[in-house]
Amino acid sequence: MMDLDSQRMNNMFNTYSEAENYIGFYTRKNALDSYTALISNAKHKAGIPIMASINCYSDDQWIDFASVSQAAGADGLELNMFILPADPKMTGTDIESIYMKVAEKVTRSVSIPVALKIHHYFSGLSSFVTGLSGTGIKALVLFNRFYQPDVDLEREKITSGNIFSTPEENAMVIRWLSILSGKVSCDLAASTGIHSGEAVVKNLLVGANAVQVASVVYQQGTSVITSLVSYVNEWLDNHGYHSVSEITGKLRQADSLKPLAYERAQFMRYFSDAR
Ligand SMILES: Cc1cc2nc3c(=O)[nH]c(=O)nc-3n(C[C@H](O)[C@H](O)[C@H](O)COP(=O)(O)O)c2cc1C
Repeated sequence: MMDLDSQRMNNMFNTYSEAENYIGFYTRKNALDSYTALISNAKHKAGIPIMASINCYSDDQWIDFASVSQAAGADGLELNMFILPADPKMTGTDIESIYMKVAEKVTRSVSIPVALKIHHYFSGLSSFVTGLSGTGIKALVLFNRFYQPDVDLEREKITSGNIFSTPEENAMVIRWLSILSGKVSCDLAASTGIHSGEAVVKNLLVGANAVQVASVVYQQGTSVITSLVSYVNEWLDNHGYHSVSEITGKLRQADSLKPLAYERAQFMRYFSDAR
């Protein structure tokens, strides 16, 4: 049975794809208009730089959204790219080349600094990230965190897992920051599992030039940012440092006397080492 709206649509459009194109255009235009209004308002009201964050599908959309965000007053742009390697017909190389192409095209189309936020589902992460860092982007954000699935055993259904991250999830970020810091030609920002001032300092020490927080702000409100910043300042004072740059990457693998310790993956000697 056809409802009234789809009948009306049938009268307006000859084919399904015509209708689909129109809806796509309409939704996109509306989304863009309200997003640019948000950027302009934020620029107007906030006394700090405003980063726009966009997620798109086609090359053209990435370029359009980037240019429009810049025109609306954004001081910087984060590309939130996530292609989950779920399609068996797409190779790792296919997926990686999409990231490279988008990063190259967008950085050429705007003059504001561009950061790229990625997930960690890449087979040759170090090599890929090093290549990405040379595309013109100013920073890589490690890592995006997806919606997490869970299983409801009673209803035998896929459900939503934890919306918010836990502090334990930061361990993977620490691993990769420490391995990649000093080897890539752009800044690194830490994201996922940063819930405390201690975590902020740890991420800076292993190589983050900036940290991002989302879950903890949803959970505790924006005042948590003041606590995080206070903790970092106090920690720096107590340890005799004058600025964040003095500790950035101090514990990264590239400068370590024991670089292999950073690649340790096995638990085998855990108990003997602990004694
Ligand atoms: C409720 C919620 C909404 C989010 N929305 C976006 C989004 O619109 N764009 C984006 O790039 N990331 C989004 N994220 C991901 C966060 O930016 C961040 O990468 C992720 O939550 C990991 O950081 P965290 O551990 O501090 O939460 C969202 C996260 C949460 C919890």
